[in-house]
Amino acid sequence: HLNTELADKVKRLKEAQDEIVRKGRMEQLGQLTATVAHELRNPLGAVRTSAFLMERKLKGKGMEVDAQIERINKGVIRCDNIITQLLDFSRSKHLDCQSSDLDSWLAKTLDEEARKLPEIVAITCELGLDGAHVPFDPARLQPAVVNLLSNASEALVGQGDDTANLTRPDPAILVTTSMRDGGVVIAVRDNGPGIPPDVLARIREPLFTTKSFGTGLGVPAIEQIAVQHGGTLDIQSRPGEGACFEIWLPMGAVAESKKAA
Ligand SMILES: Nc1ncnc2c1ncn2[C@@H]1O[C@H](COP(=O)(O)OP(=O)(O)OP(=O)(O)O)[C@@H](O)[C@H]1O
Ligand SMILES: [Mg+2]
Repeated sequence: HLNTELADKVKRLKEAQDEIVRKGRMEQLGQLTATVAHELRNPLGAVRTSAFLMERKLKGKGMEVDAQIERINKGVIRCDNIITQLLDFSRSKHLDCQSSDLDSWLAKTLDEEARKLPEIVAITCELGLDGAHVPFDPARLQPAVVNLLSNASEALVGQGDDTANLTRPDPAILVTTSMRDGGVVIAVRDNGPGIPPDVLARIREPLFTTKSFGTGLGVPAIEQIAVQHGGTLDIQSRPGEGACFEIWLPMGAVAESKKAA
């Protein structure tokens, strides 16, 4: 009996040790990513400026390089977005939580962000927290909400404004808030094609994407932000019936250990 108990303790010790090693590696990887991403900014700026100057010098000279210059510019913008996302993701930012009215903040944020989405996508809000104050860091929660909206919108109409890519005639996003298990839930639901099981299984992996224009950092970033708040990200979808992403945040103060995550 003593032997099995000892074996069990040793096994748990080993697991704890593995977890520490994994965390250490993740931290190193995060630092490396942040450094590389940051270092890429300068040369990328040089490419951008040079393309701009080239465009000006070649204007009206009949060189017909407009298409190439446009591709350079698009590539630069894409790289720049990837760098921003990588930096956001790898810097384990310290949270600046203040207890405030989550519903009012969300209403304002949704109002601003909804304008950036294609007009055809209908956004409905049902905010049900009744003015409840919740500790959260608005600067961190904002990109999480933006990522949820862009994923929903991309599932409904693809990237950009091209309504030819509509996945259904009445694309809609429903955002709700409610109380649950001593915390609050922000749910973002869309009526798009939903998430196939093989995608759902890998959706939380950094750099996993099914989009030609995607980076695959949206969902991992949302989850990271939820976890940093001491919360969780829950994802549900039945193919053909749309997807539902729920961020759960605790109402109480964020525990110190979570804060440092
Ligand atoms: N609302 C949704 N409906 C259907 N599939 C979704 C939805 N949200 C995410 N997905 C799937 O999950 C994948 C990963 O999403 P994630 O946001 O992490 O990356 P991405 O959107 O592909 O790229 P980006 O880094 O630009 O956000 C997507 O490529 C898509 O296949
Ligand atoms: Mg995304």
